[in-house]
Amino acid sequence: MSDARRIEADIYERLSRVIDPELGRSVTDLGMIAAIEAAPSNTDVRAGVDNDGDARDAYDVTVHVELTVPGCPLSETITNQINGAVASYPDATLTPHIEVGSMSRDKLDDLVADLKAERKQNPFNKPGITTRIFAIASGKGGVGKSSVTANLAATFAALGYDTAAIDADIYGFSLPRLFGVHTQPTNLNGMLMPVTAWGVKLISIGMFAGADRAILWRGPRLQRSLEQFLSDVWWGEPDVLLLDLAPGTGDMAISVAQALPNAELVVVTTPQPSASDVAVRSGLVALQVPMKVRGVVENMSWYEHKGERLEIFGHGGGERVAEQLTEALGYEVPLMARLPLEPELRETGEAGRPAVLDAEGALRPDGIGNEFRALAERLMAA
Ligand SMILES: Nc1ncnc2c1ncn2[C@@H]1O[C@H](COP(=O)(O)OP(=O)(O)OP(=O)(O)O)[C@@H](O)[C@H]1O
Ligand SMILES: [Mg+2]
Repeated sequence: MSDARRIEADIYERLSRVIDPELGRSVTDLGMIAAIEAAPSNTDVRAGVDNDGDARDAYDVTVHVELTVPGCPLSETITNQINGAVASYPDATLTPHIEVGSMSRDKLDDLVADLKAERKQNPFNKPGITTRIFAIASGKGGVGKSSVTANLAATFAALGYDTAAIDADIYGFSLPRLFGVHTQPTNLNGMLMPVTAWGVKLISIGMFAGADRAILWRGPRLQRSLEQFLSDVWWGEPDVLLLDLAPGTGDMAISVAQALPNAELVVVTTPQPSASDVAVRSGLVALQVPMKVRGVVENMSWYEHKGERLEIFGHGGGERVAEQLTEALGYEVPLMARLPLEPELRETGEAGRPAVLDAEGALRPDGIGNEFRALAERLMAA
């Protein structure tokens, strides 16, 4: 490292101990130090000898400061502190030049959002957290993500796991209906309690008044809604967290990967190529972000008629997706379940009860109950 770069690094280090008096965090943390430039000084006559008689170099150091509020009353205090930090540099003679500007609107918005988020941290990001997180994605719409999420969550809860589910499909939320939830989350001093239904702790934009206006949410607000669900809702430490994603190959999966680095993607498809081709693309998001694809679920695989399995939507979609993702991602992406087309699944779902449960809330010991139990066990296996 050249001397100038070393000086810049050292000044940065010193500035990291300068605390913004209002926000209580260091000016480097807050992004207030936009740049530091050190350059040998041609004009500084103080270059010469230090106290011990050794040669000392002279540098001009320019610090570009961006204040949160232009002309804020504390700017002088901060400038003085920055001057002090530069002046404390021991091995050379530095002449500080402090250039004061203000943050762009976007940068300030981001900073404020960060500060708010920090007050109530996303609990699933804590080191040592053991919650298994499965994000249920598809690609094509209407293949049964929400039905799979709801029944899987009910299965986990019935098997004794502390289970939570987030409806991350902001425009097309459906978990409240599938769980028969008509109540709102309780608000405890700004901390929301999830609504528990059929043993599952749930949150959905559909539980809030004016949810029909959610469709107006755009860009950053959509991204932030997930962060809010994670940080503003009191989750405790569930064993399992399921996320019902919107159809598509897009933004929400990336937001999930960022907010929940441990999340594993589960790709749902139906047997026909029109669904499985898009399902592959939804899994390929794992090439862009550090998220593992846990496996594939094929839904509506067959319809049982007079003891015969009719493959109404064709055959092989789940296998195709599993094979193609295994090849593209370079690790085993298994086909974890093939679920039947089961009219009851739709009917009970519409009546507000996951079909895997009987009216008392126990896991049904037959067909669909067994299919989901097997899927739950496979997902939890290491
Ligand atoms: N295995 C199944 N048997 C019978 N009906 C099913 C099955 N899976 C899903 N359905 C029905 O298909 C419809 C679409 O399912 P669902 O809403 O779960 O799909 P989705 O992928 O979440 O849709 P979207 O993309 O709109 O979010 C619903 O009416 C649901 O009841
Ligand atoms: Mg859905």
